[in-house]
Amino acid sequence: MQQIRDERAGVAVVKESRPVPMAGASQVGGDFALVDHTGKAVTNENFAGQYKLIYFGFTYCPAICPTELQKITLVMNELGEQAENIQPIFITVDPERDTVEVMKGYVELFHPKLVGLTGGREQIDEALKNYRVYAAKVEEPELNDYTMDHSSFIYLMSPDDQLLTMYRIEDSAAFITEDIQKRI
Ligand code: NI
Repeated sequence: MQQIRDERAGVAVVKESRPVPMAGASQVGGDFALVDHTGKAVTNENFAGQYKLIYFGFTYCPAICPTELQKITLVMNELGEQAENIQPIFITVDPERDTVEVMKGYVELFHPKLVGLTGGREQIDEALKNYRVYAAKVEEPELNDYTMDHSSFIYLMSPDDQLLTMYRIEDSAAFITEDIQKRI
C-alpha cells in the first residue's frame, strides 16, 4: 500500500500500487492443469497462441467478481474483431463449492467465450501461487457458511504466457479496452 495520486479520480487515495510488469512480469503466471466448465481437463497449452484475460474469483461472490467478469464481457464486446485472439478465463479460488456444474451455470451469465476453470485444491493452489493471488476463507457464523477474501486483478497474458499488465477494480471497461488496443 502507498499514498499515491490517482489522476483519473483527481484525488489522493491510499491503494495498492499497480504492480510494475517490467520488474516482476516473469514471476507472474505459469503452467496449470485444471478442469473447464464442461468437465474437460485443460492445461495452459490449450490456450497457447492466444492472448488471455484471466480473472480469479468465486461464483458466490456478491459483488466484485460479477462486476469484473461483466467488465471483461464489455471489453470483449467493445474490441469486436480484435478480441478474436483473446481468450477470457475465470479461475475459481473456491473449488470446494465451484464444481464443474456450478461453473457452467455461472460462466454462461457472461461472455460466450468465457471459460471457467476449477479443479482439485492442490491444482488450484498451484495456480494461485503462480499468479500471486491472495485468497482465504472467511467464516461468517451468522450465515452458517463462508465467503472468500481474495485479491482482484484482471491479468492480460501474451500468446506465450508472459504477463503484459494487470488491471485493477478501479480500471473501467473503456480504459481496459483502449489499453488492450494499444498492446495487441
Ligand atoms: Ni470476489
